[in-house]
Amino acid sequence: MHTTAPRPIRRLTDPAPHSPRVEILDQTLLPHGQRWLPLQDLAAAAHAIRTMQVRGAPLIGATAAYGLALGLEADASDQGMAAAAARLAATRPTAVNLAWALGRMLACLAPLEPAARPAAAWVEADAIAEEDAAQNRAIGQHGLALLRQLPRRPDAPLQLMTHCNAGWLATVEQGTALAPIYAAQTAGLDVHVWVSETRPRNQGLLTAWELAQAGIPHTLIADNAAGQLILTGQVDAVITGADRIAANGDVANKVGTLLKALACAHQGIPFYVAAPRSTLDFACPAGAAIPIEAREGDELRLVTGIDAQGETARLRQIPATEAVCNPAFDVTPAALVTALITERGHCPASSAGLLDLYPEQGRG
Ligand code: MRU
Repeated sequence: MHTTAPRPIRRLTDPAPHSPRVEILDQTLLPHGQRWLPLQDLAAAAHAIRTMQVRGAPLIGATAAYGLALGLEADASDQGMAAAAARLAATRPTAVNLAWALGRMLACLAPLEPAARPAAAWVEADAIAEEDAAQNRAIGQHGLALLRQLPRRPDAPLQLMTHCNAGWLATVEQGTALAPIYAAQTAGLDVHVWVSETRPRNQGLLTAWELAQAGIPHTLIADNAAGQLILTGQVDAVITGADRIAANGDVANKVGTLLKALACAHQGIPFYVAAPRSTLDFACPAGAAIPIEAREGDELRLVTGIDAQGETARLRQIPATEAVCNPAFDVTPAALVTALITERGHCPASSAGLLDLYPEQGRG
């Protein structure tokens, strides 16, 4: 499908030999600078995921699929393919989209002769990317239907809050949590978005940048302000993405999500989670079994920004000797989630709810 919607990963069709086949928007420079990076090989793809040049669960999955295709260009033997998949799988642990995409690629490629694998890998990786885009568009429409049902204040925009970045930068297109917000804008629904900063890596700045590009009214807040805004009635609903949803509906997402869900429950407002099929882990019984990525302490100790010359700079905020703990995700219990929104519709965050939407997962 032809689309002009922005994407953080794109295929290059230059037929010149050895020219790059895929490139990414380097998210470590945003929102202050923009740079497209060609992914030349498997190592570059693994590096991009590990260092968060690409990030967001569905985008990590799509990048891993292309990374495997790049790896097979160099070595398409059984051993080469297994080693490439293992290298990519080890980059980040929490977003199940990574394992899901690699599993799908291997299921497609393993039965083929090695010589046929590289071409087939590009086709399958493209299919994963296009399906993600289509699923996010569907999430947008299903989420919009829920937003339309929220009680409205007279002459005031719908007040939504989100956490981290679950927009087009985090997926192949549209985003998950932001897809209903983009759909709302297209439908002429008046919305304002509270964007939480998302310490320590500040993915909220990516969300603010996306919303600014789209002309959607929004306000950036420190993470710690969320509870006060929610409990004083300034938020109608919170909507986030997810990195892994367990079979019982527990949700792993960017650390800080749980506190917003608790505040929503106290206030009695909806807490929605939007995610495609690739984020559902039916093999994972509950949130306690989800691996939580522990990232390096310097993400907390150092603050990154641009200096007066416009150059990227890191400032020390916390002494190197200070012990810090930097879990990148938290788990929101299913009971705190009002509804899960997927490409198939919305459902309660429960095993029964998920099986209603995905009945094939209940068979044998
Ligand atoms: O560490 P990140 O930036 O990859 O974490 C991203 C998130 O937690 C997103 O909210 C999640 O992946 C949903 S993306 C559509």
